[in-house]
Amino acid sequence: MSKDSLCELIRSRRSVRRYQERAVPIKKIRHILSMVAWAPSAHNSQPWRFIIITDKRRKTKLAAKMAEGFERDLKRDGVPENVRTKVANASIRRFTEAPVVIVPCLNMREMRIYLDERQESEYTMGIQSVSTAINTLLLFAHAEGFGTCWYCSPLFCKEDVRKSLSIPKDIDPQALVTMGYAAERPAKPQRKIVDEIIYLDKWGSNPKE
Ligand SMILES: Cc1cc2nc3c(=O)[nH]c(=O)nc-3n(C[C@H](O)[C@H](O)[C@H](O)COP(=O)(O)O)c2cc1C
Repeated sequence: MSKDSLCELIRSRRSVRRYQERAVPIKKIRHILSMVAWAPSAHNSQPWRFIIITDKRRKTKLAAKMAEGFERDLKRDGVPENVRTKVANASIRRFTEAPVVIVPCLNMREMRIYLDERQESEYTMGIQSVSTAINTLLLFAHAEGFGTCWYCSPLFCKEDVRKSLSIPKDIDPQALVTMGYAAERPAKPQRKIVDEIIYLDKWGSNPKE
């Protein structure tokens, strides 16, 4: 791949939230995940695990369980019941209508164990490693002609996700990624220009701030 096509690939990837009904062959999913395995990770620990869900009943069960957690949070925020129901139903639809739902997890069994404050850094490294893998997934799926969207919702209802998918206690669901053939072409969102995100030599050296 040329440098130009890599730039184009990175720039043209969008978060896709509506999909065609067309199924994604499991062979394609396996191929994409076999590329994701080449993402960098702390100590080359590769602490990522991906739960792939294509079965409609399983998707519905997971989405409904997560929506319960979502509704609980909205209730706590004082959101009226009719709005809560609408938002929860929309979230169930979003996840069940995507042909593939992927739940990337952090497997802390693959990371080092420290009995002091270094453990927190180790946990962060695990999360960063899984995030890198998710980004690779999004990009490679895009290269293969699929749309994806990264959702953070499992972070807010980890126990619900664990229960629904029988995930053990020390495996941490980190996100939910939907994937399929896109049924929309999302507009290009704004990005900060490079001068807004860099500091030369030290913090505070960015004249834009
Ligand atoms: C950590 C993370 C969490 C995200 N969570 C959500 C989410 O819960 N719902 C959603 O619609 N999009 C979510 N997104 C997608 C972002 O909204 C999207 O990447 C951003 O708006 C830029 O759009 P683009 O991906 O098309 O460039 C998330 C992205 C990341 C990296």
